[in-house]
This record gives sequence, C-alpha cells and structure tokens, in this order.
Amino acid sequence: MKVPLNRMFVDEETRNAVMEVLESGRFVKGPKASEMEERFAELVSADHAVSCSSGSTALMLAFKALGIGKGDEVIVPSHTFIASINGFQHFGAVPRFVDVDPETYTMDPEKVKEVVNEKTAAILPVHIYGHPAEMESLEQIAEEEEIALIGDAAQAHGALYNGIDVGCIGDMTCYSFFPSKVITVAGEGGLITCRDDELFQMLKALRNHGRYENERDISSMAGFNFRLPEIQAAVGVIQLKHMEEWVERRREIAKVYNEELSSIEDLFIPVEKEWAKHVYYLYVVRSKERDALSDHLASKGISSGVHYRVPAHKMPYFKKVPTLPVTERIVNEILSLPIHPLLAEEEQKEIISAVKGFRP
Ligand SMILES: Cc1ncc(COP(=O)(O)O)c(C=O)c1O
Repeated sequence: MKVPLNRMFVDEETRNAVMEVLESGRFVKGPKASEMEERFAELVSADHAVSCSSGSTALMLAFKALGIGKGDEVIVPSHTFIASINGFQHFGAVPRFVDVDPETYTMDPEKVKEVVNEKTAAILPVHIYGHPAEMESLEQIAEEEEIALIGDAAQAHGALYNGIDVGCIGDMTCYSFFPSKVITVAGEGGLITCRDDELFQMLKALRNHGRYENERDISSMAGFNFRLPEIQAAVGVIQLKHMEEWVERRREIAKVYNEELSSIEDLFIPVEKEWAKHVYYLYVVRSKERDALSDHLASKGISSGVHYRVPAHKMPYFKKVPTLPVTERIVNEILSLPIHPLLAEEEQKEIISAVKGFRP
C-alpha cells in the first residue's frame, strides 16, 4: 500500500539508545525501565508507574494484584480488543459484557448500573480509539458498590477526562506499547499507573516472580516474569520525549479529517465529547458501505482497518451472552483511516480525496 495505516518512528537518537543498551550488557532490570516509569508517571501526572512486558500482562498484573478470581465478575465492554477480556479470565473471573455509547464507543455507565451485582469485583472501561470513557459515573458506581475500577488505556496515552489524565483515574490504568500505539517500544511493552503505595509495591513484586524489592531471595506469592526489557525501555524513553507533540499532531490530523469529511452523507465521523481530550490513536468513521469503502481506498493504495470486526462476546468460547445492539451494529460500519504523527499532509489529502470520491 502506498499509504499505510501506521508507521513506526525510528531516529538516530533511538538507534543510539539501543546501541547503548547492547554495549552496556544490561538487558533486564536496569536503569532504562526505571527511567521509562518515571517519565511516564510525570507525563500522565500519576503517583506511580510500573513497566511490564505488554498491555496484556499489565491487565493480568492489575487483576492479580487485586486478588480477583473464581466467582468474580468483571464488567467490561465487548467492543474492544480481545486482550481486555483475556487477562482476568486466567484467574477464573468471568466477563459481564455491556454495550457502548453510540457516539464515543466507550462503556455506557447506565448499562453498567443494570448489571452490577454481588459478584461484581471490578469495572474495566476501555478508552477505545483514544477517547476517554465516562469516568465520573463509573467512579461513582465503583465507590458505591465498593468495587475496583481499572482503566484500559492501551489506546489512550495522554487522553484526558474533564482535564484529568485517564492515568490518574480509578485504582489502576493499564497501557500498551504495541508497535501501532501512540507510544511504542520497538517490540512488546506495557505499563500500569496507580495511586496506592501498597498496590505499587505488589505490582512490582508480581512482575518479578513475586519478589518484593527488599526481599531479594524470597517470593512472597506466585508471581510472573512480566518485566520490560531494557532495549524496549530505551526506545520508549526516547518516544516519551515526543508524546505531547505527537498527540497534538494526531489531533491536528483529526481536525482536518473532521472539516473535510463531516459533510459527506452517510459517513459518521468521530465525536469528541466536551469533557474529553481524544488522542486519536485511531480515526474511526462509520459507513453502511464500510467494506466497499475499504475496497475503494485499497484500489487507490490506501490502507484502512477494522477495529474490531468480531466483538468479544461473539467469540466462540462464550456460550451465554447478552445481545448488545450498539456493539453489534457498529462493528459492521466502523473503518479506521490512517492517522499517525508521520502521516504527510499530501498523504492525508489523497485519503480525503479518495473518501470523497467514493460512490457506493
Ligand atoms: C484496548 C486494548 N487492550 C489491551 C491491549 C493489549 O496490549 P498488548 O498488545 O500490548 O498486549 C491492546 C492492544 O493490543 C488494546 O488495544
């Protein structure tokens, strides 16, 4: 494809940072992972940050740290990447799927109220595509019901809810540095932010075989090896220097798309609520002719994507699931257009002109 959906940033500083780690001979448990944690916590104004091996393992660590397991239910949107739902299932908890808001595609708090019950152990909103979920209502429910609130911000580095970074809301927030994400690490990586000191110590122990930092030879619990390698952390540290500028660039690209595409009949463009700062990890439009539009773009050398075609509750291993009308409708209509900080103006013009030239 002439215009790819995404492109990874690699500069001289990144190459040098990788070489430095290679030459240092220190590949794990080194200074780069700590630096990544400090920088990330600063950027999202979080009290604590714990790096780990992926967004998926971040979610596993979060649920393990809270002791969520057999007999517990986790309220979660079905409209997400399947990793949101996989983590807690390894500990015996089960998902309680809820529908999403038709404008933001994030968890509908009213639906959460309908399903919360004595088995509910946690609510897991997903800040999908980079738009924050409606956190105030969810926080209220979590407080009233005395259950955990864990944010999946794998797609939402830097997203704000009412001016507050999503990394500071709830008990924990989980991030991914998968190669397509807002911040990447040239491989796999993830991170958890949290407020509570004890939770912070436990998360660090859990990712390192259950060993607390002051008890080197003792495993206090069955932990994991979910550490972030130094090469990945070194790349991440460089990327974080650009985070604010890249988010602004994503927002500028989205603004141009919005201006150019909003008048097209039957094309639904993304919504940014007045209480939200959307970071546009993905720019997702909706069209009843989604597949034909995607084919048309491909014929012009333009990549597009569908995030996600099969909602989680439709995965064959779930036997008894609710009907989720909004989710089930939008998965047939959503289409992600290229958006990333390295997208050239000329490329965006081509994309816009191709979308405008589409005749179903
Ligand atoms: C919403 C969401 N949750 C979780 C993950 C899992 O992250 P990772 O791929 O780093 O394991 C991803 C990304 O892949 C994601 O988009």
